[in-house]
Amino acid sequence: MSSAGDTSPAGDADPTSDVTDPAAPNLDRAFGPGAAASTGTAPGRVTLVGEHVDYVGGHVACMAVDLALTVAVRPSRDGWWRVDGLGQRVERGEPVMAGDIGDRLFAAAQALDRCGVPVPPLEMAVSGDLPASAGLASSAAVTLAGVVAMLRLTGRRLSAEELVTIALTAERDIAGIPCGDLDPRAIVHARAGEALALDCASGSLQRVLWPWPAVALVVAASGEQHDVGGREYRRRREAAEEACAALGVSTCSEIGDRWRELEPRLRPRGRHIATETLRAAAAVRALEAGDVAGLGRLMDESHESLRRDCEVSTPRLDAMVEAARRVPGCHGARLVGAGFGGSVVALVDRGAAKACAAALVAVSGLDDATWLVRPAAGLEVTAADSVGGENGRS
Ligand code: GLA
Repeated sequence: MSSAGDTSPAGDADPTSDVTDPAAPNLDRAFGPGAAASTGTAPGRVTLVGEHVDYVGGHVACMAVDLALTVAVRPSRDGWWRVDGLGQRVERGEPVMAGDIGDRLFAAAQALDRCGVPVPPLEMAVSGDLPASAGLASSAAVTLAGVVAMLRLTGRRLSAEELVTIALTAERDIAGIPCGDLDPRAIVHARAGEALALDCASGSLQRVLWPWPAVALVVAASGEQHDVGGREYRRRREAAEEACAALGVSTCSEIGDRWRELEPRLRPRGRHIATETLRAAAAVRALEAGDVAGLGRLMDESHESLRRDCEVSTPRLDAMVEAARRVPGCHGARLVGAGFGGSVVALVDRGAAKACAAALVAVSGLDDATWLVRPAAGLEVTAADSVGGENGRS
């Protein structure tokens, strides 16, 4: 990853390496000296096309990116659970949910415990360059970075699929966020230099090489915080499930044109999930064919569907998308993640990245919140000591 204002290719250092991360020293700073720390690092993700369809079995084209969060953990001296990071410091006697920075990590500890990996009371510190509430899966990243750190601390190993299940158990069942499996699957299974095609109905995935060395992705935060745990995300999911139930299908990929049969109240949501899953499959074909204009068009159409039918965009996100598209060399742009704020991602010729970032900043006013991102490796690769294999339990 490099600043989008700097269009030189990012360096070759592994951005998810734990070696130089300050999370472990942060533990000492936050809580005083203590036992040796174990760390885990997890990347964020960018969806190319396929938003708000994972929870109804849709197709998603996505990738992990070279922005990451690291969690350092060590056993607590006094049996209290503590977390420091992202401007918050919390502590409690039990790893329970309280609506703060502790939730995802305490949920991760509970989820591990439920699947037979008991975790002692911990002190934890979070650091990294993946922005929170920016539509880049920071919640799943902090959860999974925490799980990896806890596995390293306890000397246990899990399969990649078990890791995805634990992240979902933590986020959805324990923290109560009604998310789908897009984020953990991207974070676990991604490979550097490749996009992922996820089928959220069958759980299968396909890897697709990023075919354009000279085409980049620029991400820019809008400054509007999104909240995937919020009421509106939950409502989108409920409406999508209602639309599928009304049509008697179990996944949005089975809807085709039948969204027209839905009652007017559900029709826009039904049209979004029916068309977005098809667009995601088409995006994979565009990647395979090296059709950059085609992928850009599909990203534009995805944004329009999210704006008009799913109604998760905001005037600022729309204005940022418009501004990016006006830059020569930009092939397409869309909001990324759940929406209601968050970020915009634009597909641009590398030589146009600086101008595109400037156009986005002119709308957002945030000149330190643009990134030139690359497809990065997920945990199967970067945490292969603790993650991998079909039956990874030890
Ligand atoms: C959030 C959720 C995902 C997915 C996206 C929207 O990132 O965690 O499961 O629903 O929103 O595509």
